[in-house]
Amino acid sequence: MIRNVCCIGAGYVGGPTMTVFADKCKDITFNVVDVNEERITAWNSDDLDQLPIYEPGLDEIVERCRGKNLFFSNNVYKCISEADIIFISVNTPTKTKGFGAGKASDLKWVESCAREISMYATGHTIVVEKSTIPVRTGEVIKEILDSSQPKKRNITFDILSNPEFLAEGNAVNDLQNPERVLIGGSNQKAIIALHNLYKKWVPEENIIHTNLWSSELAKLTANAFLAQRVSSINSIGALCEATGANVKEVSRVLRGDSRIGPKFLSCGPGFGGSCFKKDILNLVYLAHYFGLPEVGNFWESVVELNNWNQNRMSRIILEKLFGTLIGKKIAILGFAFKANTNDTRESPAIQICKSLLEEGAYLKIHDPKVSKRQITLNLGMPSEDEYIENPKFSVLHNEKKWSKYELIDDLFNDVDAVVILTEWDIYAELDWHEISKKMRPPGWVFDSRLIVDKQKVLSSGLNLWRVGDGTLNENVF
Ligand code: UDX
Ligand code: UDX
Repeated sequence: MIRNVCCIGAGYVGGPTMTVFADKCKDITFNVVDVNEERITAWNSDDLDQLPIYEPGLDEIVERCRGKNLFFSNNVYKCISEADIIFISVNTPTKTKGFGAGKASDLKWVESCAREISMYATGHTIVVEKSTIPVRTGEVIKEILDSSQPKKRNITFDILSNPEFLAEGNAVNDLQNPERVLIGGSNQKAIIALHNLYKKWVPEENIIHTNLWSSELAKLTANAFLAQRVSSINSIGALCEATGANVKEVSRVLRGDSRIGPKFLSCGPGFGGSCFKKDILNLVYLAHYFGLPEVGNFWESVVELNNWNQNRMSRIILEKLFGTLIGKKIAILGFAFKANTNDTRESPAIQICKSLLEEGAYLKIHDPKVSKRQITLNLGMPSEDEYIENPKFSVLHNEKKWSKYELIDDLFNDVDAVVILTEWDIYAELDWHEISKKMRPPGWVFDSRLIVDKQKVLSSGLNLWRVGDGTLNENVF
């Protein structure tokens, strides 16, 4: 019987997942622990706007459950010792050095969690891999748990894989109404224990049981398939621009084919987020490791196309602005990797902004949820006001400059171009007539998310480039 649950890692996955669990299983205690004290303080903040991650609807549920059966703390060891079931939701970034660098996942956090669990767990504990991890990681966790001292203390473990399929920005709905829940493992008793937790709100026919390795591989494969669709439509978008076709029309035709399905056919600046690239690179590593280079190369091309697509955006902006950005101001609308999140991991905005800064542009950046601090980290340079306020930066002062704007109306004065990088709703409703009066002519609008009203932009006298829209290109045959 499960009475106490611990989740290690209070990030984008652990935080929302345990919050929804707590809301659905009121008779069970959920402890979310993290080594990062600042993050835990933010989760415990009275001001719900200070929660460390932004997800629509999440604040209400946190408020409902926190302090009742949901607790956020840094008390890792105590919470491990009290738990019947422990979820590992720590980050598994791509390795930057050593064997498999650039492709394989760095499992140091998963390993250290396994060691902590082996030290502090009591009685029988079910350990659940929630983090996306390379196939056969469950085996590594089991080895660490089994080989360490707990045996002497009569402690036993079962390992399950229970990958998370939530998409950021829609996490609460994905968790409350999952299309499927996947539980991989070999011990039926442990599988049923976790199954019974989900059963409280998920229809049983949506709970899939597999073996451990199938579950791990299915998660990587699901993300690889989704990313592959984004690269597919982005490749066709580029072809549309060259030929005079319109990718929106092409997508509409594809959507009508039930074999293809209606989703993940939006052309854009390229996929971002913490999972797609990392998971594909994991597959690539795995394929090469098992002597299947053709399989590895196939999946690697999905990431290559994505990189190419992101670079293409900055190249097009440069070309349209007469080949030089020196002395030009550009408004950047959106820095998050998609709308309705404050997450910027692998956001196309990072690479695109870096290229524009490199070319000498001054960037005025707006995003409703991403902080200036986060943008500074991602761009690897402070904003202009930080240079001015902090003399220690003055030696670093160079031509690359950017500012973060809180109010969107202040953004457009004297800019040569507006570049839309994230599909926030507010960007679809801008008044282009008013904006055009503030911009320096000939003003350009670059819409990498296909959200602006074409007629409204053109009738305001501005020039427009839209991803995948060849009908705007005068040079097509
Ligand atoms: C996700 C997914 O869970 C995972 O599948 C993917 O591999 C990486 O991204 P996410 O919740 O988005 O994880 O990551 P993040 O927001 O970085 O949160 C991870 C948390 O784990 C951090 O707050 C970090 O401080 C914490 N952590 C890490 C620990 O508490 N202990 C550790 O040993 C390591
Ligand atoms: C993804 C998976 O969807 C989720 O199941 C998994 O658990 C984690 O990884 P996430 O990365 O949060 O979720 O967002 P997702 O909605 O999948 O978007 C990923 C990227 O693809 C974003 O940058 C998004 O803008 C882009 N995208 C998505 C497109 O460019 N076009 C599309 O049609 C769909």
